[in-house]
Amino acid sequence: MQYRRLGKAGLKVSEFSFGAWVTFGKQVDVDAAAKLIGTAYDKGVNFFDNAEGYESGMAEQVMGDAIKKLGLRRDTYAVSTKVFWGGPGPLNRGLNRKHIFDACHAGMKRLGVDYLDLYFCHRPDLDTPIEETVRAMSDLVAHGKVMYWGTSEWTAQQLTEAYSVARQYNLAPPTMEQPQYNLFERQKVESDYVPLYDLMGLGTTIWSPLASGLLTGKYNDGIPADSRYNLPGYEWLKDGWGTERIQQRIEKVRKLATLASEIGMPIHHLALLWCIANPRVSTVILGASRHEQLVDNLGALGVRDRMTPEVLAQIEQIADNRPKPPQRYDD
Ligand SMILES: NC(=O)c1ccc[n+]([C@@H]2O[C@H](COP(=O)([O-])OP(=O)(O)OC[C@H]3O[C@@H](n4cnc5c(N)ncnc54)[C@H](OP(=O)(O)O)[C@@H]3O)[C@@H](O)[C@H]2O)c1
Repeated sequence: MQYRRLGKAGLKVSEFSFGAWVTFGKQVDVDAAAKLIGTAYDKGVNFFDNAEGYESGMAEQVMGDAIKKLGLRRDTYAVSTKVFWGGPGPLNRGLNRKHIFDACHAGMKRLGVDYLDLYFCHRPDLDTPIEETVRAMSDLVAHGKVMYWGTSEWTAQQLTEAYSVARQYNLAPPTMEQPQYNLFERQKVESDYVPLYDLMGLGTTIWSPLASGLLTGKYNDGIPADSRYNLPGYEWLKDGWGTERIQQRIEKVRKLATLASEIGMPIHHLALLWCIANPRVSTVILGASRHEQLVDNLGALGVRDRMTPEVLAQIEQIADNRPKPPQRYDD
């Protein structure tokens, strides 16, 4: 395992980290979570990702109980949670000062920690001034309850406003963003955020590196009964199933799988290694509903030297979706 700085921050996170979305509290109980976290940790994973909105707080509880069961030393791992979807009622959601503090305290309790390493605004909140959010996050940092705060799926404009407000009032600016990034979703990481990497020193903890499993090839011939797309409560994931857009993606998955087998790896290894080939990615958050998936995915690091510039160029040709970089006028 190699470690990367979280943007310009001093915190070094493992290139592969591990997250709880969908799985913890739904497909994975405390014993299974302890086995997953223990395996990841033994392989060098030092960051575990969560959110108050994952299974209504159950994912945080399961992760906290699993970490306690394993007896991990607090100074050997980093843990996150995210605030936005806390539950029903106007006070239990969004990025207002009250909910940011409530979710932080509740998350710490469920995770069994007395500070959060990373704390994310899970989405932008159009009903709260960004200044209120920045001030609340910055206060949590000042109080020692949060080490680094960040955002998830904010636009470059919203991030720029947060950064400017923090600079104007001498507050802590966001350190990291958590965007979706995989061979099908590239716009934010490869284009929108480009000016912010240097301006803010922005780090990225990227999610759904396998596009919820599509990039394993398991959906090539339809939706398997025991897959995420078939889980009650997650039906929305298969919105658009059968459309030309999904068909095109599956065609690309088939081509990428052929290329992967030519270089002696399964397609999901190729897809994960493609994510860490981007130096702007601080960490790739893995997801797994089963222990064998996690062991398999971590194994990708063993064949990383096969991702040569030639292979990356071939992937680019198949993906055929590189976003346009920000316009320069000096060429
Ligand atoms: N900030 C956000 O808005 C946001 C959103 C989503 C996720 N996240 C974070 O990112 C983490 C990772 O996202 P993700 O879970 O969507 O990642 P992913 O790698 O795209 O999908 C993981 C899922 O794919 C399937 N899978 C993984 N490896 C496999 C393998 N080797 N063979 C077959 N199937 C395999 C499993 O689902 P099944 O076995 O159930 O089919 C697994 O749960 C989350 O846990 C969460 O921490 C953040």
